[in-house]
Amino acid sequence: MRVGNPELATPVTPFLKWAGGKRWLSALVAQLLQHDTGRHIEPFAGSAACFFASTVTKTLLCDINAELIGCYQIVRDRPEELITGLSSLGIDPETFYAVRKQRPRSALARAIRFLYLNRTAFNGLYRVNLDGAFNVPFGCKPTTVLCDVDVLRACSIRLAHATLITATYSEALARATANDSVFVDPPYTVKHNYNAFRRYNEHLFSWSDQVRLARRANALAERGIRLVIANAFHIDVRRLYSPTRFHAFAISRSTNMAATPDKRGTCEELLLVSHSLGFSRRAVRRLIDSEFPGRVQSARLLST
Ligand SMILES: C[S@@+](CC[C@H](N)C(=O)[O-])C[C@H]1O[C@@H](n2cnc3c(N)ncnc32)[C@H](O)[C@@H]1O
Repeated sequence: MRVGNPELATPVTPFLKWAGGKRWLSALVAQLLQHDTGRHIEPFAGSAACFFASTVTKTLLCDINAELIGCYQIVRDRPEELITGLSSLGIDPETFYAVRKQRPRSALARAIRFLYLNRTAFNGLYRVNLDGAFNVPFGCKPTTVLCDVDVLRACSIRLAHATLITATYSEALARATANDSVFVDPPYTVKHNYNAFRRYNEHLFSWSDQVRLARRANALAERGIRLVIANAFHIDVRRLYSPTRFHAFAISRSTNMAATPDKRGTCEELLLVSHSLGFSRRAVRRLIDSEFPGRVQSARLLST
């Protein structure tokens, strides 16, 4: 749903850095999921790059990470207090490790800590140990700004009509109705994998989670709900999604998850677009081609 006030309906930059974030894909997803009715739903919100790139205002953002959703609530409801709280913190290892050790109780103090760690931890990673303690080391660039006040205020306005829930994806999908559009972006796991980032994700989102998620997505597409899904480009993942319900494409892109520049390279990602969105295969391909010239391939089951 779009609202009359143009200030509310403007694409903005997400305020978080997020591993696996879809800023690079967000303009395309915003075009595919453009609609005038219903809500935009992200069951795996992370930095919600695709929501912020769209002009849709009514949204349901869901993530299993309670600190993340708590931070969205404070950005939406108390942005000025958040800005004031961040402005008193320095960017240096001493402050970082002191903040990392804190266990604040109030929602505001937790959001300040979360956003501070997001800006200053290595690669913006969010990772906790088995006791739930954040354990990423200090690692930001000298040019890091803790909080871009304009971005934070703009995100707060965009979140004004957002429903925010800490839950598993399953709960968000259960709330999807016929008019809604859903962007699904789970942690990437494949049956066999040799990539450290994906191996780490396996603890969080197993192969059986991927199978269950695909079953739900196929059923929703069958009911006519509009879905765009991003996932690892792997034949086992591709096979989980019905070719009679989804157009499938592989997009190659440069990756920067490796710790050193010499290990950075390109990888392929799978993009699934439900037929219920009403685009022909050729139209989807044209849209992808215009965003990523020369970097798209068909991922039809028979040709992979
Ligand atoms: C690939 S990230 C999403 C990135 C997001 N699209 C963006 O642009 O930043 C996956 C997200 O799924 C969340 N997650 C992991 N398991 C989940 C589950 N079972 N239910 C809901 N969210 C989950 C993680 O906390 C993480 O934020």
